[in-house]
Amino acid sequence: MKKDNFINVTQLPPPLKHPTIFKAFQSLAEGEAMVIHNDHDPKPLYYQLSAEYPDTFTWEYLQEGPQVWEVKITCTQKEETVGEIVAKDYRKAEVFKQFGIDFCCNGGKTLSEASKEVNINLDTLLSELEKADISTAAPSQDYAKWPLDFLADFIANTHHQYVRETAPIIEGLADKVSNVHGASHPELRDVAKRVKSLTADLMQHVKDEESFVFPAIKKLISSGKPNIENGESLDELIKRMHVEHDHAGEDLRYIRKITDDYALPQDACNSYMYLFEKLKEFEDDLFRHIHLENNILFPKSVALETV
Ligand SMILES: [Fe+2]
Ligand SMILES: [Fe+2]
Repeated sequence: MKKDNFINVTQLPPPLKHPTIFKAFQSLAEGEAMVIHNDHDPKPLYYQLSAEYPDTFTWEYLQEGPQVWEVKITCTQKEETVGEIVAKDYRKAEVFKQFGIDFCCNGGKTLSEASKEVNINLDTLLSELEKADISTAAPSQDYAKWPLDFLADFIANTHHQYVRETAPIIEGLADKVSNVHGASHPELRDVAKRVKSLTADLMQHVKDEESFVFPAIKKLISSGKPNIENGESLDELIKRMHVEHDHAGEDLRYIRKITDDYALPQDACNSYMYLFEKLKEFEDDLFRHIHLENNILFPKSVALETV
């Protein structure tokens, strides 16, 4: 056991006890253990860990008082990734968005990794995620429990339809605003160019998903056997879709960067404002769309293939 994995809780100031133990637990790899040394039964910790990380650890008393209490906590299952957390409860996506954590294209990161990347305290993130649990916002739709063929149809009928309807509107607006304001705000020319390539790529992308990827998933469900669609296996198709999602994510990040997070200048006209509103809405919809595919539909389909 690593030296860091022995925690003498009696030597920690009270406000640091909980964060130190949780941080140590989150850094455990699957199969690794840590030992908590205390002067009383740390049972409340057991309940806190069970609530935060159900079914991911074992709890074994090495000493049970009366003066010394020692518990060995073994990580039996690695920390959930950001994408998995959002897949279980979409309300958590709002928290990740608020902190600038990418839960769709880069949803494979654990909470600890993601919090380090955006330079925020892990405990702050955990407490905000906890608040989302009791949020009065509408309960999330439990997409992760939907049958995969139904989820594929839902994506096509809502998100793909949205892309088809909105892409030409955004493209037209971006051209118009760039023509009018491009001289005083040259970044708008770049926005228009990037919007054009993003929407063209996405139109082809949704077409390919509906023509090849989703049918391959449906065939796998009905026949139980992997199939080849248009010369590509489902695995290859999904890998290609992931790459295309990453490109779309990069395009939107780039547009955000050059517009300073869609900051409007003093001389912005109504079309300028509307363009930025539509771009934010488009980004929001695309993130939810990619999340449903990257974190639920695709991994579950790949898992079916390997059963
Ligand atoms: Fe899609
Ligand atoms: Fe997609």
